[in-house]
Amino acid sequence: MTADGPRGDVAVIGTGAMGAGIAQVAATAGHRVYLQDAGANRAAAAVERLNQRLTDLAATGRLTADQARDAADRLHVVSDLQDLPECELVVEAAVEDLDVKRSVFAELSRLQPPTALLATNTSSLDIDAIAEAVHDPERVIGLHFFNPAPVMRLVEVVHGTASAQTYVDFAADLVASWGKTPVHCASTPGFIVNRVARPFYGEGQRMLEEGLADAATIDACLRSAGFRMGPLELTDLIGQDVNLAVGTSVWERTGQDPRYAPVQLQRDLVEQGHLGRKTGRGIYTYAPDGHPTEAVADESRVAELVGGPVRTDPVARTVAMLVNEAVDLVHRGEASPEDVDIAMELGAAYPKGPIAWGREIGHERVRTILAELDDAYPGGRYRPSPALETS
Ligand code: NAI
Repeated sequence: MTADGPRGDVAVIGTGAMGAGIAQVAATAGHRVYLQDAGANRAAAAVERLNQRLTDLAATGRLTADQARDAADRLHVVSDLQDLPECELVVEAAVEDLDVKRSVFAELSRLQPPTALLATNTSSLDIDAIAEAVHDPERVIGLHFFNPAPVMRLVEVVHGTASAQTYVDFAADLVASWGKTPVHCASTPGFIVNRVARPFYGEGQRMLEEGLADAATIDACLRSAGFRMGPLELTDLIGQDVNLAVGTSVWERTGQDPRYAPVQLQRDLVEQGHLGRKTGRGIYTYAPDGHPTEAVADESRVAELVGGPVRTDPVARTVAMLVNEAVDLVHRGEASPEDVDIAMELGAAYPKGPIAWGREIGHERVRTILAELDDAYPGGRYRPSPALETS
């Protein structure tokens, strides 16, 4: 298998937000792409949307008219999995439901030749649990694209315990040839980005719950450290329900590790239907134009908190927890330090990779911060990674 030969055929199963985006990327890169969806007319509707999107990209000069037309010509709808041609790669981007994914993979492994790589775009399910449904789990991997797939450069290439290295390497080379940046990781809950980012949200929510400052002030503290958005405004953008579901899934899959315990404040928001921007209210309240109302940070409080005592310093608390999470993932052998930093910079737009940040702050300082927080809030959330103890 080689990623730089003639473009093989690609199939995308499930053509919602992610599937359509992935189809666009593959078709623009020169593959014939076959789209299939269980919902009536959903694949055809996705192709219609993609044709419009490609026309818009040509109109704004981001693609030439020929590139846009050629990409559009490469999109094909099929109604059943058995109508697919023999593919080089199948990417499943159907709903996030293990049973659905297992039955799609069982059928694909029966229908597709052994050379076809079978990838899932799951964001929270275990690759092994999906691969168990097929007789040849060596060709099942995760290809975790980020939303919107045509814009976001990062792709997490996730190997299950049975995935064969040839398929993993092929997938990484292939997405690199599409202009993406692949990072490798094991099938750990949340993979790299959704795992390491947990404390970014968790600390923000806890500090708000503790009454350390109002939401706008906490967000401003984190922006002052170079984060593009603060944790609270970001969870409103992601959707409190979506963010809580990801956090809860990581918590459950790690045996309810206190590091990831959902915060009551967020559970309450979800229960009350305050899901963020999409419902007009989350942590902030939004005007009809989408801007938050009454979200003015207290700048003198920001200056007082950042660089002050650890317990009330939103930046020290958050960064120490991010470093701890990142070195722990590397320590468990789930990803390389380089890939963790690339993933957090590209997938979460962090100003610095947490591994590099940890080296800059010094692991001893990170340990001291965590020990102080553990004294103040015992229970395991702030326990240091063994990687900090030994370095
Ligand atoms: P979506 O809800 O927009 O689309 C899912 C599509 O799958 C729907 O069109 C549905 O009709 C179709 N579908 C359901 N059962 C099917 C089946 N048996 N066979 C074929 N198609 C089927 O969902 P979205 O957001 O595109 O997510 C898809 C996958 O990508 C999920 O696994 C999700 O966890 C993952 N993901 C989502 C991201 C996001 O930001 N939305 C980011 C990265 C991964």
